[in-house]
Amino acid sequence: MNLDGSGVLLTGATGGIGQALTDALVAAGARVHAVGRDATRLGVLVARHGAAVVPIAADLSDEGGRARVVEAAARLRPSVLVLAHAQGAFGLFEEQTAERVRALLETNLVASALLVHALLPQLRTQPQAAVVAIGSTFGSLAYPGFAAYSASKFGLRGLIEGLAREHADAGLRFQYLSPRATRTAFNTPAVTALNRALKVAEDEPAAVAAQIVAAIRSGRQRLQLGWPEKLFAWLNGAWPGLIDRNLKSRLPLVRQYARS
Ligand SMILES: NC(=O)c1ccc[n+]([C@@H]2O[C@H](COP(=O)([O-])OP(=O)(O)OC[C@H]3O[C@@H](n4cnc5c(N)ncnc54)[C@H](OP(=O)(O)O)[C@@H]3O)[C@@H](O)[C@H]2O)c1
Repeated sequence: MNLDGSGVLLTGATGGIGQALTDALVAAGARVHAVGRDATRLGVLVARHGAAVVPIAADLSDEGGRARVVEAAARLRPSVLVLAHAQGAFGLFEEQTAERVRALLETNLVASALLVHALLPQLRTQPQAAVVAIGSTFGSLAYPGFAAYSASKFGLRGLIEGLAREHADAGLRFQYLSPRATRTAFNTPAVTALNRALKVAEDEPAAVAAQIVAAIRSGRQRLQLGWPEKLFAWLNGAWPGLIDRNLKSRLPLVRQYARS
């Protein structure tokens, strides 16, 4: 995919990875149609990049918000859709409210699926087009303390893999690209403390964005960032019992930080 001169509709543009992606996409010559709920944070991106960023303020968990994004896309005609919005919810599943679980699944999975569904007809008219979902290691390896989030990312991976196979003989690409833990406000202090206790490495958003942009350019369908995360994600598919045993030994720490 040649990004120079292309339009990229980027959800989660105001987030830690989203801002770094905006910078990297603009540097690659793309025009970024930046989606977020917070108009002030969108304004910061416009101030940084001028006309290369078109702000679209919308709550994606809301039907009206998604309709605003679809209307904007009909006008701006992007050839790439990057889904980089998400909500996290670290904690023991039974201690989370039903509303929290619903909001997370609606934002991360249902809104993503409906947005792709609404934008497909427009994207299919482009000579070269791609739908890029920002996944997570937890979309291949479900983690205790992140059950609802893992469910949303497993679902997103299933959606993108299914669509890639449904469009295997067409020009439209579907990519599922997974960062490992990344230093953004997405991770609460409890998550950061847990990562430290478990010696989980955290990447810088700019490094993650550079690898995502390289993957969009090359068109690779799947990417898991980080080692040993690549190995663990593979092992979870091939030999899940081994990961079960490893994570059981980490459970006391997960419980401690989830309740902290
Ligand atoms: N950080 C990590 O450790 C990590 C690791 C693996 C994967 N990821 C994935 O990477 C992506 C980006 O994460 P991040 O670290 O950049 O997160 P972040 O800093 O928390 O940003 C989240 C973004 O999602 C947007 N968002 C949340 N709910 C929304 C809604 N209802 N409607 C519209 N936008 C909404 C936020 O926009 P506003 O708040 O401005 O509305 C913000 O732009 C996510 O898909 C995440 O799952 C992150």
